[in-house]
Amino acid sequence: MVQIRGPIGAPFDERCHVPSVVKINVLTVPDDQREVLEKRFASRAHTVESSDGFEWFELLRPVEGTDQYLVYTRWRDDAAFQAWMEGPMKAAHQGTGGGEGEKQRPAAAGSTLWSFEVVQQASPK
Ligand code: HEM
Repeated sequence: MVQIRGPIGAPFDERCHVPSVVKINVLTVPDDQREVLEKRFASRAHTVESSDGFEWFELLRPVEGTDQYLVYTRWRDDAAFQAWMEGPMKAAHQGTGGGEGEKQRPAAAGSTLWSFEVVQQASPK
């Protein structure tokens, strides 16, 4: 059987693909900025969908256990994520930097980037 080895040396069956990476941007959003943040995402740039190696995006609104929004993204590999960060990501975030006017004021008070490797996954049969 042909085996592909993942980054930490774990063998993967040839029917499985090399594991993806998950990058989550954790946003601290004051209560009075939640609506502003969600509206910004509602009119987001949509650059990410056509980026090479992009696999999934979700904006997760906190309900219980945390008050932080998660911007969940999944990528083929780290290089694909870095390429997006160095290019289209900048244009997609032009509305969030400092500057004058409502559009320029960031809705989030802070952000942290979390990185994960997908170890296992499942979808409905
Ligand atoms: C300073 C840190 C960041 C802040 C405050 C922030 C906030 C935002 C906001 C408010 C939007 C909506 C569009 C806009 O108004 O510009 C957005 C878009 C987005 N953000 Fe961030 N973001 C940050 C960094 C990141 C990072 C590191 C990632 C990587 C996971 C990420 C992933 C995304 C994605 C995928 C979109 C949608 C872009 C598209 O549609 O093409 N963000 N972000």
